[in-house]
Amino acid sequence: MTVIHTKRLLLRRIETTDAPAFAHACNDELIARNTGRIPHPYTLDDAISFVALIGDAFDKGEEYAFAVTENDRLVACCGVSIKPAHVELGYWVGAQQRGRGVATEAARAVAHFAFEKLGAAILQAGHFTDNPASGRVLEKIGFRYTGERVMQFSLGRGCEAESFRLTLRREDFSAPDHIRFSP
Ligand SMILES: CC(C)(COP(=O)(O)OP(=O)(O)OC[C@H]1O[C@@H](n2cnc3c(N)ncnc32)[C@H](O)[C@@H]1OP(=O)(O)O)[C@@H](O)C(=O)NCCC(=O)NCCS
Repeated sequence: MTVIHTKRLLLRRIETTDAPAFAHACNDELIARNTGRIPHPYTLDDAISFVALIGDAFDKGEEYAFAVTENDRLVACCGVSIKPAHVELGYWVGAQQRGRGVATEAARAVAHFAFEKLGAAILQAGHFTDNPASGRVLEKIGFRYTGERVMQFSLGRGCEAESFRLTLRREDFSAPDHIRFSP
């Protein structure tokens, strides 16, 4: 089991006991609208199902989603999913925790994990065109816009919406020294 340590954060596997904290944090329209598969409102049952599915996906090597914690409290979620032709990065940060660099610190740590531990050569990510804050996070860690605009479904919006695509190559990424992995 991989644990990732950054300056302020500890990223670890999502456990069944995290379900109430996920239910609380994900019951947020901004998160639902800006991600693909998070409904709104979001219930404890939704969180229990998510935690079970994501644990299974971690075991199968299909998706590595991390609980991002600070002083033992869940502040965000960040992970990569292994698609047929690429590795996709995604994240959200709890409403009370935004604007402090949490997304940038967590996304950088997970990108480092994907390059170092999964052997990814390139990462992909996307954000809806009306969510520039996410684009800023991706640019800060080295992602660049591909110029593509694609329609992506959001459960929280109940429809598809236009999104930008970005990529980050391993050679364009520099991991800060303070990121550590423990088994
Ligand atoms: C997008 C999100 C992850 C950002 O989390 P965060 O922890 O606040 O992000 P950070 O503090 O690391 O960085 C945010 C950056 O965006 C910038 N920003 C914030 N609002 C912005 C806006 N409307 N337009 C452009 N940039 C903006 C901030 O100034 C900061 O950049 P800076 O460090 O250069 O000043 C968070 O708002 C969130 O969870 N949103 C809902 C879910 C989501 O959008 N997930 C991403 C799906 S692609």
